[in-house]
Amino acid sequence: MNYDVTVHEVKETDSTNSLAKKLASEGAKNLTLIWAHQQSGGRGRYGRDWIGYEGNVFWSMILRPRTDWPRLSGLSHVAALAVHATISSFVDKGKEVQIKWPNDVLVNRKKISGILLEANLSTANSPRLETENLPRDWVVVGIGINVTHFPTKISYPATSLHAEGALNSDRDRVMVKLTGNFVAELERYLAQGSTYLRDQLLPRMIGLGDEIIVRMSDHSDDDIIGVFNGMDEEGCLIVATDKGSLRAVSTGDVFFGS
Ligand code: BTN
Repeated sequence: MNYDVTVHEVKETDSTNSLAKKLASEGAKNLTLIWAHQQSGGRGRYGRDWIGYEGNVFWSMILRPRTDWPRLSGLSHVAALAVHATISSFVDKGKEVQIKWPNDVLVNRKKISGILLEANLSTANSPRLETENLPRDWVVVGIGINVTHFPTKISYPATSLHAEGALNSDRDRVMVKLTGNFVAELERYLAQGSTYLRDQLLPRMIGLGDEIIVRMSDHSDDDIIGVFNGMDEEGCLIVATDKGSLRAVSTGDVFFGS
């Protein structure tokens, strides 16, 4: 690889995100990548499990944000764009590759990838590391891509690169492409900021203008129902509710009506 990424390749770990967090707390530098052939205790959003089928990609990047970086929540969308570009480079042009807000990547409406960000953010009063001008400690961007296998006993449809006919893909090639795409997207985001992200994301998003349900918790009483109207500068989903208001939603799971 031509870019300045430090790669730790491991045969097996419980979770590449957990290993990355450990290495980050021990001082690993910006753009340290941990990727594993197998993951026995992978974690997803909202405390869900992420199954570690051998052959799939388990990838976690340590970032050390600087004070001049744009908002850190944008990193989740940087990751989604990198995965979108990676998947698109392997599957047939006729397949629809889309991003489901906030950061799932789907092929023909089936989930092929998941992204989990974890961060240790110091308070404003914490001492800075003078050498790197770090106001915050670290962010770990964890990405799982289904290459050879996908889960079936789950509540949403899933798929893999192989199931979509991309038999030329394998774990190593996907990992290398993903890493290159991630670094390229990160550089663009750092140079151009939130407007760039929104311009890139919206045309790739599924469901713009459609009826959606945003599930905020296990209780359907908390659901937000309305039309997916766009995204704001902060990366929040804008929902036009039937009460005539626009709501900006920063977290949640999106479902589409049938
Ligand atoms: C989700 O969709 O819920 C997010 C799944 C994120 C899974 C990846 S696999 C690599 C990294 N290590 C983890 O334990 N989780 C992330």
